[in-house]
Amino acid sequence: MVSAEQLYEKLKNIQVGNPICQFTREHCDLLLPTIKKIEDLKREKNAIILVHNYVAPQIYYSVADFTGDSYGLSKKAKESDADVIVFSAVRFMAETAKILNPGKTVLDPNPNGGCSLADGITAADVVRLRKEFPDHTFVCYINTTAEVKAQCDVCVTSSNVNTIIEKIPNNKIYFLPDRLMGENVIADLKSRGINKDIQLWDGTCYVHEEYQPESIDQVRRNFAGVEVLVHPECNSSVVGKADFVGSTSQMLNHVRESERDTFFLLTECGLTGILQSEFPEKVFSGGCTFCKYMKSNSLEDILKVLRDPSPQNIITLDPDIQQRALQCVNRMFDYVG
Ligand code: 13P
Ligand code: SF4
Repeated sequence: MVSAEQLYEKLKNIQVGNPICQFTREHCDLLLPTIKKIEDLKREKNAIILVHNYVAPQIYYSVADFTGDSYGLSKKAKESDADVIVFSAVRFMAETAKILNPGKTVLDPNPNGGCSLADGITAADVVRLRKEFPDHTFVCYINTTAEVKAQCDVCVTSSNVNTIIEKIPNNKIYFLPDRLMGENVIADLKSRGINKDIQLWDGTCYVHEEYQPESIDQVRRNFAGVEVLVHPECNSSVVGKADFVGSTSQMLNHVRESERDTFFLLTECGLTGILQSEFPEKVFSGGCTFCKYMKSNSLEDILKVLRDPSPQNIITLDPDIQQRALQCVNRMFDYVG
């Protein structure tokens, strides 16, 4: 178990501009009793805790068994031999863990953790679209409900969307629900001489859609040699000006390997905080934008869900939906391993 000193060492360099992400040693002391109770319950119940890169750093650096992006965490959920999986992120990620592990207990400590993408399309929408586009392969971003995945052919994440859409033998693709990510895929394929008929649903991430290319121009004027990293949920004029585009874990790995020392990030600022902690010798800035859904996770709710989960905390899926959604998610693993 992490000590208060070790936790403070991890949190002390986080300065993302908002007081709720700034920590003192005393604050870490106060968190320790809750962390200890969570660790005891994890052992007692043979549970693991998966934590997304955007979740508050005091959770990320204390009780997480695995941290990562939505692809990496899905893989951990698929490979786990724990009896209980607690998924500290948003609902669609916990649902995906249940799709992959129908026989396990999957607990969501943050049952109201929506997502503007996942909440913006229903299974009935997909059923209607499939009638309208009968020859298209339906590719869904992982940021969708289990019901939507069950109506689609292949699931993708931000780390593999371009590769999978390129590999799909059909030239006709319907990609949903992220229009901006879809436009970025189209631009990337086109730049490499690949032309596919890609139809898009009009969904957006309410965090990433806000970023504008002018902020990149400004930062480049002020900081020579800055490296600009953006998430593919940003619009194409932002992506077009970036040095690196990738999932949250891909950005983290890119910084680890980069020889530069100054970075500008356009993504949810949980990632900026982790980078400040992991690479204290480097300088990070970016929009301090919170995903209200990711940031509604708390240590108290994780403790509560391990102790006494309410029905909303326990992910249950209709067996037919689970089976069909599993086929869709497994096709992603068939493409990228
Ligand atoms: P990643 O898979 O890149 O972590 O992204 C998930 C997400 O919701 C980004 O907004
Ligand atoms: Fe959804 Fe955007 Fe939040 Fe990611 S950052 S979970 S895409 S609302």
